[in-house]
Amino acid sequence: MENIDWANLSFGYMRTDYNIRCYYRDGKWGKLELCSEETINLHMAATSLHYGQEAFEGLKAFRGKDGKIRIFRPEANAERLQSTCRGILMPELPTETFIDAVKKVVKANERFIPPYESGASLYIRPLLIGTSAQVGVHPAREYLFVVFVTPVGPYFKGGFSTNPYVIIREFDRSAPLGTGIYKVGGNYAASLRANKMAHDLGYSCEFYLDAKEKKYIDECGAANFFGIKNNTYVTPLSTSILPSITNRSLMQLAEDMGMKVERRPVPEEELTTFEEAGACGTAAVISPIQRIDDLENKKSYVISKDGKPGPVCTKLYNKLRGIQYGDEPDTHGWVTVL
Ligand code: PLP
Ligand code: COI
Repeated sequence: MENIDWANLSFGYMRTDYNIRCYYRDGKWGKLELCSEETINLHMAATSLHYGQEAFEGLKAFRGKDGKIRIFRPEANAERLQSTCRGILMPELPTETFIDAVKKVVKANERFIPPYESGASLYIRPLLIGTSAQVGVHPAREYLFVVFVTPVGPYFKGGFSTNPYVIIREFDRSAPLGTGIYKVGGNYAASLRANKMAHDLGYSCEFYLDAKEKKYIDECGAANFFGIKNNTYVTPLSTSILPSITNRSLMQLAEDMGMKVERRPVPEEELTTFEEAGACGTAAVISPIQRIDDLENKKSYVISKDGKPGPVCTKLYNKLRGIQYGDEPDTHGWVTVL
């Protein structure tokens, strides 16, 4: 792809050659079909359109220095998709089918996988939607699973650098016993106004406290939160946040580096005690936090005094990226080499 400016890709959609599809009809999943159409022919009464019966996933493929293509933890995404399916009454897609679909669609679009040197990657977006007509609020009988890919650069402009966040109390992303633990579109619809508010105020992203008490840290936009202090990696335990695969990986890497890991409710006041903090997810990997402002209470929790990413965030970031690109040994068996 000689005409793609690999080093300056943003986190956006670019047309690639193929997507892959699989239909659920008569109580069973069909065969994978490679497709070059970008559109879907959908019934206007499909449950995905009216009642939000849809789930998605996000993972990445990387081209290594050795030319090999590595997909990061696809079985973890397959399992999370299954959990989402149970959460909103959709048929679970078997892990083998999920991984097979991901491998096939990456292979078919090999020419869109950014070169190693660019630091970019191929974002993989699986989508599962209820397709059959329903007017009463019930699950669909038929479903479509699609996976498309698109080459992406950094999620935040500037790549690995610190960003300011703002606590938004006006809107909740998800309820304590709602769908926050699932990757369903409704959570993202619910986040749009909070995200716009943060942007309008000049921040990179919105910061959520728990919906019930507004006392504990939930998430940083579409990413999990972690804080670092006293050689300890601290991350919230909450019933309304998405179980991030990046966060799970970082907890393991922190442990490997001899750090303690704590997963527990994290009260807002504890923000004064962290030496470093970050937002983590597939898109950004780690986005170190510069400061978190609580405008309502006229407080500003400055995490990075010099405005630079801290040493622990940097070490974790380099280690995880190293494993993803094949520069570091994959000691936990996280990588699927194509
Ligand atoms: N939290 C939310 C709400 C997300 O949308 C994502 C993105 O997938 C994450 C956290 C990070 O999860 P992961 O590390 O699995 O990409
Ligand atoms: C992530 O991958 O970290 C995300 O939050 C994905 C986002 C585009 C929904």
